[in-house]
Amino acid sequence: MRKKIVAGNWKMNTTVPEGVELAKAVVARSAEVPAGVGLIVATPFTHLCPVAGVVGGTRVELSAENCADKEKGAYTGEVSAAMVASTGAQWTILGHSERRQYYGETDEKLVEKVKLALANGLKVILCVGENLEEREAGRHFEVVKTQIENVLFQFTAEEMASIVVAYEPVWAIGTGKTATAGQAEEIHACIRQILAGHFGAQVADDTTILYGGSCKPSNAKELFAQPDIDGGLIGGAALKADDFIGIALSF
Ligand code: PGA
Repeated sequence: MRKKIVAGNWKMNTTVPEGVELAKAVVARSAEVPAGVGLIVATPFTHLCPVAGVVGGTRVELSAENCADKEKGAYTGEVSAAMVASTGAQWTILGHSERRQYYGETDEKLVEKVKLALANGLKVILCVGENLEEREAGRHFEVVKTQIENVLFQFTAEEMASIVVAYEPVWAIGTGKTATAGQAEEIHACIRQILAGHFGAQVADDTTILYGGSCKPSNAKELFAQPDIDGGLIGGAALKADDFIGIALSF
């Protein structure tokens, strides 16, 4: 049975002390969330160690927002998967549309990143999703299918047990414009079908598929009620512990 997850993507927000306070506030309310719902906070690299100190030993898991596509060496400014794992983080987000759009993250680089993350014992939240132009041209299914084929099809069914997919339509991220529950479910079901076609029904059934894009306490219930939506990757609303927990209470 696949796991339900609510993950907060803090992006480039909060100073270290602010992040520590936010993590403490999430931990403080985490007991209210049903035991079957996984809670993850994804923080900037600088915050991983201190936040690990806050969430360690609690039910809240820790994630990075990215990691390098190289193992180690002369790559100034990069942070490797091994470094992320050594902070105590169990997860990393990879392939977020902001990384793809602003930092030239290609599917080829993502394959390397996913490989290194898994090799270092990290679980991965892999983001896919179409932009507005692609959606308006009716190409959303094709775009998402290509992203999945290019990246996930390079991994085995066994490795898929450590990978969560996040469908995030770019036009819904940070815009206040959420995909309707119907629009989101349609793509989630299609993603599951694509996974079933390649990895088999069991892997497809066991893979957690999150929705991301202006998810908030007021719309999470309807989204999470869809059969193929297993939770959310939350940006803006994850910066307030009460909103983040409110979303996690929407199952
Ligand atoms: P948002 O971001 O909730 O602020 O739209 C979601 C994301 O980018 O992961």
